[in-house]
Amino acid sequence: MDERTAARDILAAARRLVVFTGAGVSADSGVPTFRGASADALWGKYDPYQLASPQGFAADPKLVYDWYNWRRSQLAAIHPNPAHNAIATLQARGAAVITQNVDGLHERVAPPGCMTILRLHGKIAADRCSVCEYAEQIDLHNLPALRPCPRCGEYLRPAVVWFGESLDPAVWRAAETACKNADAMLVVGTSGEVYPAAGLVRLAARNRAKIILINLEASPFDDLVDVALNRRAADIMPQLI
Ligand code: OAD
Repeated sequence: MDERTAARDILAAARRLVVFTGAGVSADSGVPTFRGASADALWGKYDPYQLASPQGFAADPKLVYDWYNWRRSQLAAIHPNPAHNAIATLQARGAAVITQNVDGLHERVAPPGCMTILRLHGKIAADRCSVCEYAEQIDLHNLPALRPCPRCGEYLRPAVVWFGESLDPAVWRAAETACKNADAMLVVGTSGEVYPAAGLVRLAARNRAKIILINLEASPFDDLVDVALNRRAADIMPQLI
């Protein structure tokens, strides 16, 4: 049996499917990944501790905020790709979606009534205050500049999780529960290098979920995987549905 048929069979038999995604699922929409072979990979060009950590923001809030606005302006012009659409089809059939992505592309195509997407690393289209937890949605077509929180005067920051920060406990608990109960997990476009998120794949595998991996490069999950498809997510995903 070829790998594609094996993946299709696992998806068709799954009763409690979890789809776990990373930046690679949005790469075919033109969103740069963080790592990997691509020349556009963000952490190959920029310092994550300067641009994605509380210390970096404290040192230079404008530099960090402007960098996020640059990423937001890219997102305003891009669209979900066939991989996002295929995942939305799985969602309509009952799959849970857990994503490390902050780009909001899964949400744009999610079927009505299936809007629950567990966003482990937050949302780029919002700002929040880390002191008083005031939050504001951002219009990607009309980006605000760095500004103080209207409640407490601290600078508002992008509502994403930075290096050294904890994940939202409720989101994390829900993700762990979904992975413990999963009988199959489809992992799409993640390097598996960032914890605790990457630990969800091992958690699902320990609980005997079948693991399908779609990634362009080798990943630390390769030993856990039942089926590996080294193909672009936007090419292969529609063929699995
Ligand atoms: P990475 O950028 O670390 O990994 C993306 C993976 O996708 C790489 O292994 C690529 O080989 C693969 N890939 C690239 N294009 C693909 C395509 N078209 N189809 C399939 N695979 C493709 O992204 P994440 O694993 O999501 O954290 O990174 C995890 C976290 O690190 C992010 O959420 C972000 C980052 O720092 C925060 O922002 C907190």
